[in-house]
Amino acid sequence: MLIRIPRGWELPDSAATPEPLVLDRRKALGLGGALIGAGLARPARAQEGALTAMRNTRYPPAREVTPERDATTYNNYYEFGPGKSIASGAQRLPQRPWTLKFEGMVEKPQELDLDGLLRRVSLEERVLRHRCVEAWAMTVPWTGFPMAELLKIAAPTASAKYVVFETVADRSAMPGLRQSWYPWPYSEGCTMAEAANEMCFLAVGMYGKPVPPQNGGPIRVLFPWKYGFKSGKALTTIRFTDTRPVSFWEKLQPSEYGFWANVNPEVPHPRWSQASERLLGSNERVPTKIFNGYGEFVASLYEGMSGERLFL
Ligand code: MTE
Repeated sequence: MLIRIPRGWELPDSAATPEPLVLDRRKALGLGGALIGAGLARPARAQEGALTAMRNTRYPPAREVTPERDATTYNNYYEFGPGKSIASGAQRLPQRPWTLKFEGMVEKPQELDLDGLLRRVSLEERVLRHRCVEAWAMTVPWTGFPMAELLKIAAPTASAKYVVFETVADRSAMPGLRQSWYPWPYSEGCTMAEAANEMCFLAVGMYGKPVPPQNGGPIRVLFPWKYGFKSGKALTTIRFTDTRPVSFWEKLQPSEYGFWANVNPEVPHPRWSQASERLLGSNERVPTKIFNGYGEFVASLYEGMSGERLFL
């Protein structure tokens, strides 16, 4: 059997930006689309529903992009309920105006309007694999910017060791919040080193459009090397602290969900194997990779930490 291994810069045809979006972007940027920085484009304003930026090919997904319909209709978002079909209910969550607060160990607490913040960063597109702890996976073209850029704006002090990502709890839009046994608001955290890692990404777009409410619009964090529950949706507050946070799932079930939650096929969840994953769309089962295949970028973060439960 002939096996062809794609090179880093190769993408399947299905991953190519559709022509109308490319043309739209040129319009938005002025003809010719002046590129800024190392092959990256300035954002694209959200114009007629489009939000596009140049693709950064440093992180080749080596997988087909998941059909948009599958990625946007099969969701985990407990604020809207425990089922997967929350997409229509999530449309009730207003996406603008939206502010993001930086607080805790920062030089100066700030509350920034999201659109103002987006004018201060460079947007890029990354096609990233997402692996849920429940053993399903998707591959999505996200538009956003590295968390490292946001750290420059938030200006944490030298004593900050951890970052907490707190997400919206809007009682008028989110019926799941009535389930009072959950420790709302949904929040997850990471170390400063993880937040500064090039793979930690803030997404405001998906498939060339603003991230829809059900996938975490208007802004969510992505840790592509960790189980998906670390990637909080609809961020409202980013808090810097010197104490390791106990986040949503860890509070609920510490024996099953930990602080680190790095993907590892060899460390099973207490109730199921993590050796393989089901791809949304095709339902094909494929082997899971350590750090979800992003080890070359993130493994060094965990050197010498053998005493920690890094994969739970
Ligand atoms: N963020 C919030 N606020 N609430 C949630 O319930 N679920 C997490 C994560 N972020 C969740 C969340 C889980 S378990 C997963 S797998 C991903 O979102 C799912 O993201 P998706 O619906 O875009 O696929």
